Amino acid sequence: MRVAFTSDIHIDLNGPAVLDALVARARAVAPDVLIISGDIATGATTYLSTLLALKTTAPRLLVVAGNHDVWTSPEALQKGLDSWVRLDKLLPALCTEAGAELLDAGPVEIDGIGFAGSLGWYDLTTREHILDAPMEAYREGVWGGLRWTDHTYAIWNGPDGTPMSMEAVAEVLRERLAAHLRALTTRRIVVATHTLPFLDQIHRKEHPGWRFVNAFMGSLPMGDVIRADPRVVLAIAGHTHLGSDLRIGRMRAVVSPLGYNKEWKGSTPAAAVANALKVVEL
Ligand SMILES: [Fe+2]
Ligand SMILES: [Fe+2]
Repeated sequence: MRVAFTSDIHIDLNGPAVLDALVARARAVAPDVLIISGDIATGATTYLSTLLALKTTAPRLLVVAGNHDVWTSPEALQKGLDSWVRLDKLLPALCTEAGAELLDAGPVEIDGIGFAGSLGWYDLTTREHILDAPMEAYREGVWGGLRWTDHTYAIWNGPDGTPMSMEAVAEVLRERLAAHLRALTTRRIVVATHTLPFLDQIHRKEHPGWRFVNAFMGSLPMGDVIRADPRVVLAIAGHTHLGSDLRIGRMRAVVSPLGYNKEWKGSTPAAAVANALKVVEL
């Protein structure tokens, strides 16, 4: 089985020419399964049209949500459309309409291989302790002139109608992923998350702003859930726009994001997508 994957395609920001390049590249690769590991587009219209275009490139299109895909707005919140509604209702509906499968909603088995996935969330376990930022700064997402935009746009209301903590969101999504893994009956599993499950996937830079943002990159307990299942042969993630390819026990852990076009350092869309779209034979 040929599996192709990338993440962080941000088509609402990167524009249709980048989607065209990605579609052309995916067609050339001709995968059996194409996986996009989150951050497709914030707006529902672009999200849907992107999936419809990508669905023409592979028999199965598997998707996990990214933080940008569950962003809400003050107007939407007024109507009760928080990030849970986007994750559990809007995105599954858009995926169904496009013929894609949202792994956050449940695992799938294709020709004897299981696929499980989750947006995941961050819980400050990837925080850089060398940075002397107070806990309050992480809670508010504001420090040294920097603002972590999820704290404004990703609002997860709890049963009492008040926003849940990031740790509580990470725990709910981790438990869901664990349940999805338990539900699979295959001997081999591919896991796709948006946020990072492993510490070595965090890029370290001696820049205070970078160090602050690293706190919002992922969740190490989510990595423990993935690592605890010996059937997982490949773990895909995104969220950081810097790639990595690691061996963790029996598992290969790959981050291969497309990222924002302003990050490409002069590269063309065709070259950027060729670099980002990874292909594995399973
Ligand atoms: Fe992203
Ligand atoms: Fe992201």
